[in-house]
Amino acid sequence: MNRKKEGPARVRSLPGSGEAEDTRLAIHGGAPVRRVPWPTYDKGAVFVHPEDEEAAIRAIRSHLYFRYDHRSQRDTECGRFEEELCRYFGTKHALAVSSGTTALALAIMAAGIPRGSLIACPGFTFVATPSAIVLAGCTPLLVEVDENLHMDIEDLRHRWTPEIKGILVVHMRGFAADMEALTRFAEEMGVPVFEDAVPALGAELKGRKLGTFGLAGAFSTQSDKSLNCGEGGFLATDDSVLFARAVVLSGAYEGRFRRHFPDGEPPIGTDLDLPLLSFRMDEIRAALLRAEMARLPLRLERFHHNYAYVASALSGLSRIAIRQPVEPGAYLGEAFIFRVPGVDAKWFANALCREGVDARNLGSDEDTNVRVFWNWRFMFGDKDAEEIKALLPNTTRYLEQAVDVPLSSSLSPEDCDQLIRAIRKVAAAVAPDRHHTEPARAVLGDDRGYAPAGQGSGHSAKPAAGLADPAPVGQ
Ligand SMILES: Cc1ncc(COP(=O)(O)O)c(C=O)c1O
Repeated sequence: MNRKKEGPARVRSLPGSGEAEDTRLAIHGGAPVRRVPWPTYDKGAVFVHPEDEEAAIRAIRSHLYFRYDHRSQRDTECGRFEEELCRYFGTKHALAVSSGTTALALAIMAAGIPRGSLIACPGFTFVATPSAIVLAGCTPLLVEVDENLHMDIEDLRHRWTPEIKGILVVHMRGFAADMEALTRFAEEMGVPVFEDAVPALGAELKGRKLGTFGLAGAFSTQSDKSLNCGEGGFLATDDSVLFARAVVLSGAYEGRFRRHFPDGEPPIGTDLDLPLLSFRMDEIRAALLRAEMARLPLRLERFHHNYAYVASALSGLSRIAIRQPVEPGAYLGEAFIFRVPGVDAKWFANALCREGVDARNLGSDEDTNVRVFWNWRFMFGDKDAEEIKALLPNTTRYLEQAVDVPLSSSLSPEDCDQLIRAIRKVAAAVAPDRHHTEPARAVLGDDRGYAPAGQGSGHSAKPAAGLADPAPVGQ
């Protein structure tokens, strides 16, 4: 935009600071809210402490990297990690594996879902969810999400066919799905629920850990998850047969699956009637993860606290519709997602990036974000993006309106405050109110029902459910 048209930079004081702030957007040449990179795992902003590093080095120096060597299950890092996971999640069994994707596929395969079956999953998830269904020999059946990006049970009912043999629920971007309603529906249909709890490790719904509601829960320990060993994952379940089969499938050959039942007989007699897929975890990664578990509660508290702080500070901002949890506090806090109905969300996200905050418009047509279903081309034969979008029109609309900001657990109080300021600044610039002087092109001349909060936008003006107004917490 032409600077002349915009006029001189507007300067206002920050409340209580005495400091002056340039209200002209950075995208239009103003001073950005922050000048240092937004902390994310892929820039090294991870929660790994010296004790964790030492544990991994000890494992490297042991030269015992294979989990099924001469030692008993209880003497291995993998075995101990699994014991700790059982205690943490309160499940009978846990199996450490090579990734979240393989944990998901193992759950479906080990449950005995016939190859070729349909498995329902939401249209908003990471591409690994439908990919795991494919890996398990089944076909994903996509379901709409609602305005808060939770799986839409009415749409699931509407699309139901007897070929659907399981529901793969996703706690996407750390937000709990409505497990009560979904498990009730699955019972009615007589199919199991599997939980993709990959993005929500440690988060709870009504005091119960996500990943423990369904027949089996799958988790990842990839680098931006609550436990981080680079690449890895695990499965948690109470079902002993499913567990024993998953152990064999994951690569416990020549009777080694028996080691996972040190106190009695395994519920399956042989490992010879299942393929072995080498989805095992190794001792070095398990050692790192075991050490990290000691500080998992602290990390979870930081995620949660910082999210609550940011969401609470922005809850009165009528121009954005903050994603709402299904229950107060039922989220991890790894991402801040909001919709900007009636506003060009791609422009909004770009403007935030220029203010110094990493942000993506989920449904942008300018990148190939694999969290949006129309980029999962492997599922749709010759269909083009517009034809694919038409399969889930609501999900398409919500993703096109959505802005996604990653919230590392290492965010400092200053990072949180800068995020709040950046969102307020950009929102103020596009607001169709009396202060509005910024680009009309950012506001869609739309029929999408944009209204200030509480007037039919699908978003309530009241503070985000369960949010107090805490101070942010840094690392
Ligand atoms: C929802 C979801 N499911 C599955 C996965 C896959 O996990 P992994 O990368 O460990 O295979 C991811 C990865 O981020 C994810 O976000």
